[in-house]
Amino acid sequence: MPLTIENLTPVIGAEVSGIDLNTISADQAAILRELLAERGVLVIRDQNLDHEAHKRVGSLFGTGTLHRHPLATASGSADPEVLTVKATAKSAHAAGEGWHTDVSCDPAPISTSLLYMHQMPESGGGDTVFASMTEAFALLSEPVRALIAQLSAVHDGSLPWREAYGRHPEAGAEFNRSVHPMVIAHPDTGKPLLWVNRGFTTRIAGVSKLESRALLEMLFQHIESTPRLQCRVRWDARTLVIWDNIATQHHAVWDYFPYTRHAERVSAVGGLLKAA
Ligand code: SIN
Repeated sequence: MPLTIENLTPVIGAEVSGIDLNTISADQAAILRELLAERGVLVIRDQNLDHEAHKRVGSLFGTGTLHRHPLATASGSADPEVLTVKATAKSAHAAGEGWHTDVSCDPAPISTSLLYMHQMPESGGGDTVFASMTEAFALLSEPVRALIAQLSAVHDGSLPWREAYGRHPEAGAEFNRSVHPMVIAHPDTGKPLLWVNRGFTTRIAGVSKLESRALLEMLFQHIESTPRLQCRVRWDARTLVIWDNIATQHHAVWDYFPYTRHAERVSAVGGLLKAA
């Protein structure tokens, strides 16, 4: 069966059909990798993925090594390479309900995340909004692009996990904290893109607190309030969404409380980030 590709917007996202991920061929995997680099987000419906199949598909991306999330056990998962993403009537928060890039505090951040949906809320809702960071960078004015291209920013896992969720690292460990350039070159396309996110970025290095706060807030608002950067994905049970975690960020909309939404995420580790 031939692959069918339908773009979600001119800028970001595509629905892909005509593929069974349980029997994905090397040629199909190469097409998906190329399409992901181009579109940032791929929506693939009607898949039957157990953990092994989900992880096998995940290992086709990035370096091929699967990420072990520091909160995998706390999320309720028995497998360190699978993160449970579940919100119920008992939840105080839903994972990913603010704008973020997954785990950007790692020295070599996640290149690709693959979220597989098990259960959608009966109320409807539970969409995920994605934004293109290549487009976010391209839409900034030349003087601002030149300014931020010289700067680096701190990304700290304590910001979402300790401060927002009240979680603690395992005994003797600390959540990761890394400094990354604010404008990086995409590892596959070489395109420059904006690499700060409200979820993990705490401050800009080498400038005053006031300058850091004001500049970051301007960039976060640019990302969050520019609809032409964004696409909105509607899920069904058994949909897999694959996102390029370097070139996009996302926001899981928690508009379905007290109903249950349950998904699982596998992520592939990428390489070190390089300034554009
Ligand atoms: C996440 O940030 O990985 C969760 C995204 C979602 O639940 O839609």
